[in-house]
Amino acid sequence: MSESPILVTGGAGFIGSNLVDVLVARGHPVRVLDNLSTGKRSNLPVDAGVELIEGDVADAQTVRRAVQGCRAVVHLAAVASVQASVDDPLGTHQSNLVGTLNLCEAMREAGVCRVVFASSAAVYGNNGEGQSIDEDTSKAPLTPYAADKLASEHYLDFYRRQHGLEPVVFRFFNIYGPRQDPSSPYSGVISIFTERAQQGLPITVFGDGEQTRDFLYVGDLVEVLLQALEHPTVEVGAVNVGLSHATSLNELLTAIGDVLGKLPPVNYQQARGGDIRHSRANNERLLQRFRLPEPVTDIRTGLARLLGVSGS
Ligand code: NAD
Ligand code: UD1
Repeated sequence: MSESPILVTGGAGFIGSNLVDVLVARGHPVRVLDNLSTGKRSNLPVDAGVELIEGDVADAQTVRRAVQGCRAVVHLAAVASVQASVDDPLGTHQSNLVGTLNLCEAMREAGVCRVVFASSAAVYGNNGEGQSIDEDTSKAPLTPYAADKLASEHYLDFYRRQHGLEPVVFRFFNIYGPRQDPSSPYSGVISIFTERAQQGLPITVFGDGEQTRDFLYVGDLVEVLLQALEHPTVEVGAVNVGLSHATSLNELLTAIGDVLGKLPPVNYQQARGGDIRHSRANNERLLQRFRLPEPVTDIRTGLARLLGVSGS
């Protein structure tokens, strides 16, 4: 009998499609549930037998159909932009919390247990100024996005205790790499800055550029997600996924300039409301439970790869 598929919700998006590529390359059947709001059909490998269900995680019936017959789920479908959630809390909530709850229910009904969930460093808010944040740091969600991620974690834990679900909850820090869509102001900062730098267009920094983020290359994240799918046991508690290295936006711009050999003009505007000032993972739990690739991709190597500059 052929292996049953792994469902990747949000599989046509940035992280999802990078994961799907590797799953397919390793011979796993894959099903994708995606409403193509930010994801693209063209992100999915051609002729690889990936089944795409074009639909919304906010629709319980669609989620039931997607989960049916699956071996495990990686739940990535969500509005990924913190700023979009500030501008449209209700719309975001449908995808980011109702979607998770629909998935939990559908998995319970279908008897599918393993789910890998993309939570976020955003749940910590502005904790850990200048220091790394471990998983027990108090949670201070500043935005609807962060509130929905934290609530999703709690629902997954309820279904674990009550219904035997096996959630592996990751709090991703800032992920970057190929297929992160640069086309919207809501996109991830590295995709916007690298795209504009390549085109010679001015770059806008919100704030003074001294805010920091812990950037992780998507290929390294995918290796961790694969381990989580296969791990024989599931340990309780969320796991930070980051390199434990803080880079300010000003340092990021310097690095892009060094890699490209040029940098367009940079404007500084008012900081965004709800923006987190500093974010750096304590990743000890990650390193205890999972393996990061050896060597991990440092920011300059990752930028060079993304920008297609030799030396990567
Ligand atoms: P993305 O926007 O590229 O991917 C999200 C995918 O989900 C897209 O393909 C989109 O079309 C789909 N989607 C959105 N709403 C949906 C809905 N209601 N129903 C079905 N599909 C829907 O973003 P990404 O960066 O690949 O993010 C993937 C996941 O990782 C998200 O849950 C995001 O919150 C989380 N995350 C991302 C980062 C990061 O730095 N990129 C960090 C922390 C957490
Ligand atoms: C990102 C992710 C979010 C994730 C979180 C975890 C995206 C779009 N967002 O949010 O899903 O949960 O990390 O840490 O992937 N900025 C500029 N100029 C720009 C764009 C952004 O200065 O043109 C600034 C922002 O104001 C912010 C920083 O860059 O200070 C990072 O922004 P962004 O890439 O949107 O990431 P987060 O908000 O950290």
